[in-house]
Amino acid sequence: MIDIKAEIQQHPLPDHIAIIMDGNGRWAKQRGKLRVFGHENGTSAVKQIVEACTELGIKNLTLYAFSTENWKRPKLEVQTLMKLLISSLKKEMKNLHKNNIKLNSIGDIKTLPTKVFNELVDVIERTKNNTQMTLTIALSYGSRDELINTVKEISIKVKNNIILPNNIDESVINEHLYTHRLPDVDLLIRTSGEKRISNFLLWQIAYAELYFTDVLWPDFTKNDLYKSIRDYQQRERRFGKTSEQLK
Ligand code: IPE
Ligand code: IPE
Ligand code: MG
Repeated sequence: MIDIKAEIQQHPLPDHIAIIMDGNGRWAKQRGKLRVFGHENGTSAVKQIVEACTELGIKNLTLYAFSTENWKRPKLEVQTLMKLLISSLKKEMKNLHKNNIKLNSIGDIKTLPTKVFNELVDVIERTKNNTQMTLTIALSYGSRDELINTVKEISIKVKNNIILPNNIDESVINEHLYTHRLPDVDLLIRTSGEKRISNFLLWQIAYAELYFTDVLWPDFTKNDLYKSIRDYQQRERRFGKTSEQLK
């Protein structure tokens, strides 16, 4: 059997992988359980994938954990997700630090329950000098919310003559997004068979390679991740140019 992990390491890696971790509810339903059972099992997939990315040497991993639209879910499900977040952050803090991983978050985190907010800020603060990988968790994140926020911040600076309208370019926009310290997404993965973006990183995926798999998130393994990276490595990223120009 060919060792897919070894093969991956012989080719350029994506600098930034983003994942829409979808399918927890269906995974639980297939087992005759409540949706929250799926979320609980989704956390072990997160652990596996973070570990796999660290082992491979991926520098940026961004995980969509909770969208601005997910607030509309039943109260009990939202509460359970928030509790899971606190317990995962508490439990994984040591591992993140041991593996030299820096935690980061994107989204309107002020809207999170105080306990989640405090735990999150604490882990971010404690891991801020780590350098192996930046793990960004998208929490209460929506791309449209992010763009609204960006427009507001830039408008204030224009009003105060800090930025001239004529000088607004891509880099100015980039600097005001929640993702301001991150490079563009190279590979976007969505599990569970849905082929949509669901308000995730609309600006940042402008030239990302998209990878959709039917695997439900709690079943997503290191090997599934390797397969997606291998697939990515076999694509030609032209960024508008012709194939010949790239040679
Ligand atoms: C993804 O799984 C996790 C979150 C959105 C929080 P879902 O909960 O969306 O699972 P499905 O899509 O209903 O199966
Ligand atoms: C997207 O999944 C959000 C997260 C994975 C956190 P959803 O399950 O909420 O997306 P839709 O509603 O099916 O598009
Ligand atoms: Mg879903």
